[in-house]
Amino acid sequence: MKSSTKPLSEYEALIRWVEKMAELCTPQSIHWVDGSEEENAQLCAELVKNGTFIKLNEESWPGCYYARSDPTDVARVEDRTFICSLSKYAAGPTNNWVEPFEMRKTLKRLFKGCMAGRTMYVLPFSMGPIGSPMSQIGVQLTDSPYVVVNTRIMARIGLPVYEEIDRGEKRVVPCVHSVGAPLEPGQKDVPWPCNQEKYIVHFPETREIWSYGSGYGGNALLGKKCFALRIASNIARDEGWMAEHMLIVGVEDPHGEKTYVAAAFPSACGKTNFAMLIPPEPFVERGWKIWTVGDDIAWLKPDRSGRLFAINPEAGFFGVAPGTSAKTNPNAMAALSKNTIFTNVALTPEGGVWWEGMTEKVPSRLIDWQGNEWTPQIAKETGAKAAHPNARFTAPAFQCPTIDPDWERPEGVPISALIFGGRRATTIPLVFQAFNWLGAVYIGATMGSEMTAAAAGTIGKVRRDPMAMLPFCGYNMGDYFRHWIAFQRRLSETPRVFHVNWFRKDEEGNFLWPGYGENMRILKWIVDRARGRARAKETPVGWMPHYEDLDWTGMDFPKEDFEQLQMVDRLAWRSEIIGHEELFLDLREGLPKEMLYERELLICRM
Ligand code: OXD
Ligand code: MN
Repeated sequence: MKSSTKPLSEYEALIRWVEKMAELCTPQSIHWVDGSEEENAQLCAELVKNGTFIKLNEESWPGCYYARSDPTDVARVEDRTFICSLSKYAAGPTNNWVEPFEMRKTLKRLFKGCMAGRTMYVLPFSMGPIGSPMSQIGVQLTDSPYVVVNTRIMARIGLPVYEEIDRGEKRVVPCVHSVGAPLEPGQKDVPWPCNQEKYIVHFPETREIWSYGSGYGGNALLGKKCFALRIASNIARDEGWMAEHMLIVGVEDPHGEKTYVAAAFPSACGKTNFAMLIPPEPFVERGWKIWTVGDDIAWLKPDRSGRLFAINPEAGFFGVAPGTSAKTNPNAMAALSKNTIFTNVALTPEGGVWWEGMTEKVPSRLIDWQGNEWTPQIAKETGAKAAHPNARFTAPAFQCPTIDPDWERPEGVPISALIFGGRRATTIPLVFQAFNWLGAVYIGATMGSEMTAAAAGTIGKVRRDPMAMLPFCGYNMGDYFRHWIAFQRRLSETPRVFHVNWFRKDEEGNFLWPGYGENMRILKWIVDRARGRARAKETPVGWMPHYEDLDWTGMDFPKEDFEQLQMVDRLAWRSEIIGHEELFLDLREGLPKEMLYERELLICRM
């Protein structure tokens, strides 16, 4: 080993583990990350030198960098993601499982010498505000400086985390990550090193994460999906809380009273837009305002009195760029206007970035996400996209104009309502409310959504995505439902639960609902229901607003269109329930009986 910075922690077990992993991975050097500005500047400069980063125009995009990934490393790889619990049952039928001893042998083979010629970074991170009783700590060993500078935005890292570790009060989750591209002496590096063989591995019992072969997003930023959802869902089940794929918003009403809501949507279904929603003008004038706490993950825990609280364990937004614009999400555009890392978007000749949907006027000339010349003409002829559909921005959360003043409150914010939602062209109404907690768990458990580019797979196909956690629940899905059901017993006040679908279409394939800011009308009804001040009518699927129960001020939306959006088509629901049944067949071994009873009740009501 050529060089090593001094350990920045005094925690013996951590120092020994780093040594042991260095022996296995044989990096050229070790760097203990302190999280400072200077260190970040130096890493970014090195990334520029290696060709991984291009520094964007400092005037128009201050502090921003641009990266292009390898074209084979562009999304989470769910088929290469493993939950290696001691028993196959514990992982359940929705996760890939390999016997842990077998997997450890594979990992040993893969990681042996995998960091040769590279630096191994020791990256300590806190998911959740440092010092919060709800936060969790991890240390990621990685040979990717790109991961270090992204994690610096997405989590709290560096010196204050070592202090937490040294106090020895919190268990540390060890995470090992390699892009799997060792360098021979003198071998020139490529801008985006990765390996065709990929393994994203979790050991729930020992709370470990091992990731090999990818440098992209959730495969590589291990604090996010791997820790804050897959491992955290295991910790949460053991400790009596919930780690969920949910955004958190605060809805401020004209009296200045805030109601917090958490909402679960599958990947790339507009969570970031919903988390930063700007209400329609007449609502703003009356004093309605949305505050952003988080856009992707919520950790929910009852306080001593049984009131439900939530924190956002992240510190940044890893948002889907295409479709994000000053029109669709001005708050995200403000958040990403500086100190942001862009991956797989397109580059403008002025040293800026662009993606499909960013501006109405399409630039006449760009370099696309694969480094090729791109013009509207070329796009027309070849169908080439300027930005990859899963192109991302990594932006600091505090830069969002609507960031909630309490977003880093150590105890979290009180949650009054939960929302489930999917991307469904047919069948599912715009909004309905569950009859009760058990009914809510059934609605969440049977949620479906059309697949998007966030994961490798068939785009557009409806898949069941329970609680939007299908790729993220780190244990048996049936036991996860059971945990949800039992959770109510810990609560003194049960949050109201709703289902929304912004994506219903007519026979011609046109969206029936405009979405975006207009979703405020639905959110207002939800908040008013949660506070016991809005009406609803009973339907076979749940409580629904009458047309008159929604606030239509400033919007001309005919009653017939609303009825079409809310229609419960019994024939379509028949196939829907058959879809639920297919999921239940897959989950049969661990499925709680309550789900079958709820299904029967739904059938009876239909
Ligand atoms: C994400 C995802 O990146 O859900 O948030 O895929
Ligand atoms: Mn997500």
